[in-house]
Amino acid sequence: MADWGIGNRVSRIMGSGKTVMLAVDHGYFQGPTTGLEDPRRTITPLIPYADSLMLTRGVLRTSVEPGTGVPVVLRVSGATSVLKELSGEGITTSMEEAVRLNASAVAVSVFVGSDNERESLLNLSRTVDEGERLGMPVLAVTAVGREMNRDARYLGLACRIAAELGARIVKTYYCEDFEKVVNSCPVPVVIAGGKKLPEKEALQLAAAAVSKGAAGVDMGRNIFQSSNPVGMIRAVRAVVHEGKPVEEAYGLFEKA
Ligand code: 5RP
Repeated sequence: MADWGIGNRVSRIMGSGKTVMLAVDHGYFQGPTTGLEDPRRTITPLIPYADSLMLTRGVLRTSVEPGTGVPVVLRVSGATSVLKELSGEGITTSMEEAVRLNASAVAVSVFVGSDNERESLLNLSRTVDEGERLGMPVLAVTAVGREMNRDARYLGLACRIAAELGARIVKTYYCEDFEKVVNSCPVPVVIAGGKKLPEKEALQLAAAAVSKGAAGVDMGRNIFQSSNPVGMIRAVRAVVHEGKPVEEAYGLFEKA
């Protein structure tokens, strides 16, 4: 039965096979990130266009109304800050809490290649064990804060390890030869947007990732730091869900 629950939860996030996830969890290690100083104000207008929100329990409770119905991807790893070594994360939120908050998935970061590689991979594995018991899919986030080259070899390694340990979805970064990362990862791959880019470049990134097999994006700063966040998320949706050419999607951003 747990598999049915997991399938049901994954389909809430990517029912069509494609997804535009909105990442607003940055405060868990960056504090009041630009654009997220007042999370409610930033998140509320974007909810109608997001296939899920990725966030911590603190922002969920304080800044999102329970009646919105938007699927929640709850970040459950953390306990490090930008002031120290990011890779030393532990599990910050229990599986019971994730179930109580009606999460559709939980997210754990892994730091392959760091001194804390083993601990972070065990964080993922233990969370998968608990999640599988209760029907909760686990999304693994790879390569955050890495100084290592974010190339297809490294990202392919990190994504594949995360999938082997039981992640149901993997989040990573776009790179050259991205199809190699996707083709060697047996679960859906979504990309982070990374640092803020000009809007057209961020749309090109999303389009390239999807054309090379990504299931979509789990994008944060390139949406909420945009001069027009609603226009930008609508443009990203046009690229990911409708396969619109970047120029056309960019027109939506400008018009909105
Ligand atoms: C960091 C995360 C963030 O949610 C994500 O990477 C940020 O998204 P973006 O790079 O698009 O702002 O998981 O650990």
